[in-house]
Amino acid sequence: MPAVVRALRADITTLTVDAIVNAANSSLLGGGGVDGAIHHAAGPELLDECRRLGGCNPGDAKLTGGYRLPARFVIHTVGPVWHGGGHGEPRLLASCYRRSMEIATANDVRTIAFPGISTGVYGYPVERAAQIAVATVRAATSEFPTIREVIFCCFSARDLLIYEELLDRAGK
Ligand code: AR6
Repeated sequence: MPAVVRALRADITTLTVDAIVNAANSSLLGGGGVDGAIHHAAGPELLDECRRLGGCNPGDAKLTGGYRLPARFVIHTVGPVWHGGGHGEPRLLASCYRRSMEIATANDVRTIAFPGISTGVYGYPVERAAQIAVATVRAATSEFPTIREVIFCCFSARDLLIYEELLDRAGK
């Protein structure tokens, strides 16, 4: 059975999945947007664990516990800042999704939810980012078949429409 890949509109901190992905910055010490929401919901123990990780490079990811979240793990990844698209942004964004799936697999994660990495403060155009997200995750579900469900967690109705259209086209 192929993995289920779907989109829904939700606050990612409320999802009961094995792992949620955080769109962090390279310090891993918290911030605004989804990062702030995850730290707020998980509690201060999350920041304590993040302090011990020594940061994270763009395109890479690191795993922590989920603490007070319903999710068992948080996978913190650092997306690229959008500088027009000619500065390696697509490659780095794809790497965020692939590395998150790889680290999830190494920790026996079966269900995982992603936010729209880089599409907030980091300014990546959401249509372009969603295309990369869907294509990369689809390829990664073949490479990492123990992951059974991937959720694209959209914060806005507009983002949800973009993902739903892409997923339909990809043969959901
Ligand atoms: N649940 C799901 N998605 C959310 C939530 C939520 N609770 N809150 C926001 N989003 P952003 P970035 C969406 O700015 O662009 C932080 O300060 C949001 O609508 O959170 O990767 C970090 O520390 C958007 O679609 O992340 C970094 O410094 C998406 O999450 C920087 O922002 C990502 O927006 C990272 O910027």
